[in-house]
Amino acid sequence: MKAELGYCSLLLLLLLIIDVWAQQARPRPRPKPPTTRKPPKKEPEPKEPTDFPPVILGPPSSFPDCPRECLCPPSFPNALYCENRNLRKVPIIPSRTHYLYLQNNYIDSVTAQSFNNATELKWINLGNNRIRSIEKQVFEKLPNLLHLYIPRNKLKEVPSNLPASLEQLRLSRNQISKIAPGAFNKMKHLILLDLHHNLISDSNLAKNTFRDLKNLVQLNLAHNILRKMPANIPNSVSQLFLDRNIIEDIPQGYFKDFTNLAFIRLNYNHLTDKGLPKLVFNVSTLLDLHLAHNNLTTVPLFNSHLEHLHLNNNNIETINGTEICPFTVSEDVHDPDSVPRLRYLRLDGNHLTPPIPLDIIMCFRHLHSIVI
Ligand SMILES: *[C@@H]1O[C@H](CO)[C@@H](O)[C@H](O)[C@H]1NC(C)=O
Ligand SMILES: *[C@@H]1O[C@H](CO)[C@@H](O)[C@H](O)[C@H]1NC(C)=O
Ligand SMILES: *[C@@H]1O[C@H](CO)[C@@H](O)[C@H](O)[C@H]1NC(C)=O
Ligand SMILES: *[C@@H]1O[C@H](CO)[C@@H](O)[C@H](O)[C@H]1NC(C)=O
Repeated sequence: MKAELGYCSLLLLLLLIIDVWAQQARPRPRPKPPTTRKPPKKEPEPKEPTDFPPVILGPPSSFPDCPRECLCPPSFPNALYCENRNLRKVPIIPSRTHYLYLQNNYIDSVTAQSFNNATELKWINLGNNRIRSIEKQVFEKLPNLLHLYIPRNKLKEVPSNLPASLEQLRLSRNQISKIAPGAFNKMKHLILLDLHHNLISDSNLAKNTFRDLKNLVQLNLAHNILRKMPANIPNSVSQLFLDRNIIEDIPQGYFKDFTNLAFIRLNYNHLTDKGLPKLVFNVSTLLDLHLAHNNLTTVPLFNSHLEHLHLNNNNIETINGTEICPFTVSEDVHDPDSVPRLRYLRLDGNHLTPPIPLDIIMCFRHLHSIVI
């Protein structure tokens, strides 16, 4: 049963990857007409609005409501392509639009007026712009929005009034240090929340910031300035990414209520042996544990279902296979479920020297790759 939970999480991950892949592979009209040249690559990044290259206009469209700056391919009447066009602002979005592409422009604020009629929107990509502000009313009238991407911008806080329908919210690589306490309260359908590479610290997260995200599968808070593990992560989460923070310890029993947790990434933090309660990683759904580039001197205990363990670049001097072996001799060795599933172990960048201790080999019989 526990094994099935693990595979269930893996399946969910696969679905997510496929989903992400599919959205990148969404049909795009090609070939582009000759007027749509990208700006020359070597130009320095413009700093002032007066330095921005001119807006690139699209060819005349058969849709009278097609903004001049965009492409409205007749074969995809629900898609509006306005990416890579040196835009400073969001054009008026036609009401038939479901998929809106506005990435790689110079947009610095988003106003409600552009979206007045666009109530059918399902996907919005605003990645790699210069967005600092988004009017409060923008998202109020978008009850069908599923995916909202605003990575690589200059947001200082999580936009307010996000629609309850959202399934994916990507806000990585902004300067976010403010999350209103109820920012995610209504978002029961959210599956993916990506906040990596921002300026979030412990004090920016309220006790219940994430609590109501009952369907969350992936939470990415990597590359922020968290000192503590975030509180009240929904127990639906399968992938928890916290690399590159300054986390020193994990509270006792922190993972005990998670039912699907399969991937934990805590590379590049400040974890020490003292900061890890003895059995904190004894989580039977866990498949993949990343603890590289911390300050551990011993190998933590883990569940026999774990398959991948990354402990490279710590301070480990010895490894005792008998102590870390998750099954004891008294158990039935012929029960395949009791044999530890560890397949991949990284220990390089520590103070260990080959050979691999025999008790490791004896215990972890599925191990087929170990890096020392
Ligand atoms: C919104 O749509 C209506 C009817 O489809 C149209 O008459 C109106 O001009 C549109 N408004 C804008 C701002 O495009
Ligand atoms: C680890 O957790 C399992 C349940 O998943 C439990 O049976 C086992 O006793 C725990 N290990 C230790 C050393 O407490
Ligand atoms: C690791 O811990 C030791 C003491 O246990 C300390 O001297 C050292 O500075 C720490 N290293 C890092 C990178 O935090
Ligand atoms: C490993 O740990 C076990 C149990 O704690 C102990 O009996 C054994 O001597 C240790 N092995 C080494 C090589 O230190």
